[in-house]
Amino acid sequence: MKIKLLSLLSLVVFHQAYAQSDKFYATTDSKNAEALKNKFPEDVEIITSNDNSSAVHLSKKAAEFLHHNVITHGPGYVYKSSQEEAVSAINKSRRENKILAFTIDQDAVVMSAIAKVSAENIKTHIQTLENYGTRHHTTAKAKTAIQDLRTKWQALITASGRTDVSVRIVNHMGTTMPSLILTINGSTSPNEYVIVGGHMDTITNNVNNAPGADDDASGIATISEMIRVLLDINYRPSKTVEFMAYAAEEIGLVGSSEIAQDYALNNKNVVSVVQFDMTNYKGSSKDVYLTTDPYNSNDLNLFLIELMERYNKTGAHAFTYGNTICNYGCSDHFSWADNGYDAAFPFEASFSQYNPNIHTTSDKLSNMGNSATHAAKFAKLGLEFIIETSKGSVLGVSDASKSSVHIAVKDKFLNYQFGNEAVESLIILDTSGRKLSESKNLLSIGKIDLNPLSAGFYLAVINTQSGKVITKKFILE
Ligand code: BES
Ligand code: ZN
Repeated sequence: MKIKLLSLLSLVVFHQAYAQSDKFYATTDSKNAEALKNKFPEDVEIITSNDNSSAVHLSKKAAEFLHHNVITHGPGYVYKSSQEEAVSAINKSRRENKILAFTIDQDAVVMSAIAKVSAENIKTHIQTLENYGTRHHTTAKAKTAIQDLRTKWQALITASGRTDVSVRIVNHMGTTMPSLILTINGSTSPNEYVIVGGHMDTITNNVNNAPGADDDASGIATISEMIRVLLDINYRPSKTVEFMAYAAEEIGLVGSSEIAQDYALNNKNVVSVVQFDMTNYKGSSKDVYLTTDPYNSNDLNLFLIELMERYNKTGAHAFTYGNTICNYGCSDHFSWADNGYDAAFPFEASFSQYNPNIHTTSDKLSNMGNSATHAAKFAKLGLEFIIETSKGSVLGVSDASKSSVHIAVKDKFLNYQFGNEAVESLIILDTSGRKLSESKNLLSIGKIDLNPLSAGFYLAVINTQSGKVITKKFILE
């Protein structure tokens, strides 16, 4: 009898231990979590949820199902080593957000900057990076590539004669490859940071042959061109602007997560972060695809839309935008979002149509059209973003006072008054750039019914008959 009980007990213990080792903690999209729980009630426990994400405890079987049923590749969840980590990841509060108050009023500086973007420079740089053969984070070449980039960025600084610009190497715990950061000190608000980045490392199934031309030499070349242009026009930001070439993104965002965590621990006031990872393969009909994953900042996406409406609608710098979704923490912007910062990731194509050669030995410039005109659009967007966000905090004043267009939301109606400006059309966009309504033949005063729209952030785009584009954000409660 005693023996029997013991063996029964050990069976239970064994069963529990087995069950425990099969399950693990993670965070995932709330909708995914609900659907998964319905399908596998025994295998999924939803610990807690916020608006978009859930902390879950799930079996490998359920995880496997999720992995094969998310829209694109990647796991579909973010692994967490404990329940506490999973819960704290989704409860991380967003920091103070200033993006809704950002204005667009630096037309002259922005136009002079984007006119200087050279696709040829970007192309040459992509080729240079491809020529290392590999930048896999474990290789000596990856380290050399970072050191050479330091030399290249330092040469730009030296040529400019600027003493408020510096470059530094950052060593990591999780990889032998270092990251690189270039800093332009803010003149009046040096403790506020505007950050753009890309990753220097590459990956394939052969560590010695990983050219990574699009993923992500294109992003490094794109941000390098932004640096060149900003120094060329002697741009002096009010806030601090930083450019980051991250190490070891491909093995799990290692470089960026150490850096973002360090900034968060030091309570650094990062106002926003934009990632450039894969900018040179035009796989879709539109040009720039904003990613709308829930961890990204709606406000920042909306601001990027506002910039493109203003600067890239017509003329020499025109390009189009759409939106897409990663469905997981697919690049370094996630590291910043994960630490409560506002982040965005404008991408080269719709996710179903991205460069098929990435993570293979064929990720070469010659396989993506052999020019960098696509990446040049991202360099322009990056410059627009940097110049308009790192200027002084004269928030709202210049923009509002110059414009004769006024809008206000009341009782689910958008009230407008156009003053002396003749208006062609008023378009309402959502945070992913989708056109929700277009009104024409408007009188100079009137209102638009917003009842069909749900609560959220929107952008009103007002096209005047003289060809001006005025954008106004509004919140519907
Ligand atoms: N550049 C890719 C991310 C990517 C690939 C975005 C395809 C959109 C379409 C990035 O370098 C990458 O490969 N990321 C990993 C995830 C990371 C956490 C290891 C991935 O997507 O598998
Ligand atoms: Zn990448």
